[in-house]
Amino acid sequence: MNAQDPAPKGDVTKTANIVLNGKQSMMPVRSGSIGPDVVDVGRLYRDTGCFTYDPGFTSTANCMSKITYIDGDKGQLLYRGYPIEQLAEKSNFVEVCYTLLHGDLPNKVQYDDFRNTITRHTMVHEQMTRFYTGFRRDAHPMAIMCGTVGALSAFYHDSTDINDPKQRMIATHRIIAKMPTMAAMAYKYSIGQPFIYPRNDLDYTSNFLQMCFAVPCEPYVINPVMARALDRIFTLHADHEQNASTSTVRLAGSSGANPFACIASGIACLWGPAHGGANEAALKMLEEIGSVDRIPEYVKMAKDKSSGFRLMGFGHRVYKNYDPRAKVMQATCNEVLANLNHRDPLLDVARELERIALSDDYFIEKKLYPNVDFYSGIVLRALGFPTSMFTVLFSVARTVGWIAQWNEMMEDPEQKIGRPRQLYVGPKERPYTMIDRRA
Ligand code: SDX
Repeated sequence: MNAQDPAPKGDVTKTANIVLNGKQSMMPVRSGSIGPDVVDVGRLYRDTGCFTYDPGFTSTANCMSKITYIDGDKGQLLYRGYPIEQLAEKSNFVEVCYTLLHGDLPNKVQYDDFRNTITRHTMVHEQMTRFYTGFRRDAHPMAIMCGTVGALSAFYHDSTDINDPKQRMIATHRIIAKMPTMAAMAYKYSIGQPFIYPRNDLDYTSNFLQMCFAVPCEPYVINPVMARALDRIFTLHADHEQNASTSTVRLAGSSGANPFACIASGIACLWGPAHGGANEAALKMLEEIGSVDRIPEYVKMAKDKSSGFRLMGFGHRVYKNYDPRAKVMQATCNEVLANLNHRDPLLDVARELERIALSDDYFIEKKLYPNVDFYSGIVLRALGFPTSMFTVLFSVARTVGWIAQWNEMMEDPEQKIGRPRQLYVGPKERPYTMIDRRA
């Protein structure tokens, strides 16, 4: 995050002319480094008295960003220009965190310094533990995460002045470092086991595994294949342009809310089954299908709008080709199951469901492919996590994307509070009537 580096300005390459209600608006068209141009509609209302209308923002860019680029038609995903396939194979999650935050891969000194800083922020204030005991043991871990992450702003007053770049950096390091600790605490609380403290001698992901699965009664041995697989899964989930939860974090941050509260808003949004909650929903769907012979009835339901059923882990707002993360996830799935000598019949169901869906005209025509959530549940279950923890793991990984996007927004001189308008279709003005004169 180079504070002196102003937000990128898309070059104005042409103009779009719109004539409406007898009024004209000449709108600049801006080009980025790659990807679609944007029509800057900032002056449309002033010139024509009309708003744009785009529910779900299917054709709307809400910011300029240098962090992540997606080409949905090619199935391409770049973090700061580096292809996700190469990062998943050659990098590690902490190095990806540095790259997303600072713009380039770190050199050895930068990497070691960043890794040590994150390591030393993994503990939480001891009083944080009291928040957990207020929840029922069967509380969904995402409910716990929404509450406890927001509560961090009650502990770190020295890193909530959002206008101080140093405080933004401390808050950034704290939230990236503490999310695994708090996620592990949510899991331990749900199974009635004692919290396990972080260990500074372990790498980020191994530390998370031991905080989740170690018990005080015996040493915990890290399985390097599991640690490597989970680290790669964190990399796959780290950022994804202006998805729903990232846009939520940006909107919350645009009002000047502190970073911990903004991340809590991202966690809340990610929980939805249409978004990050899909990994939990996808595994539940595979369990409900249960066997390969029941797939046709579910595919039939997915094609019948009136059923209200959708294939969870399929389809994407941006990817109209195979989600590149799903390919890496599938390979990781095979690697983990083979290493653990673990056969999961749900993998057979998932593979057959994918084969059938990808050869069905309905899915081909609508360009519905498996997304990052389709195979992740099978891998995470094989790693020992309960289904209820799947979206929590997603939130641990996505925290770096959220906070990197939040920082970019905070450093953007053009940023202002987000305040969309609407197309009003309600009643026109009418007088109040006393209750004894109403029908
Ligand atoms: C994530 O935005 C991101 O980048 C998100 C994410 C990230 O990293 O942050 O990638 C993570 O959220 C991945 C998506 C996880 N969600 C699911 O797997 C839930 C199932 N998928 C869908 O609900 C849906 O595909 C969405 C929500 C992912 C995308 O929805 P869109 O872009 O709004 O598309 P749509 O709902 O308008 O669907 C287009 C058509 C519709 O039919 P028509 O109205 O054109 O006739 O495709 C159909 C839909 O009915 N359709 C599906 C389907 N997904 C879309 N039909 C059956 N099964 C599905 N899964």
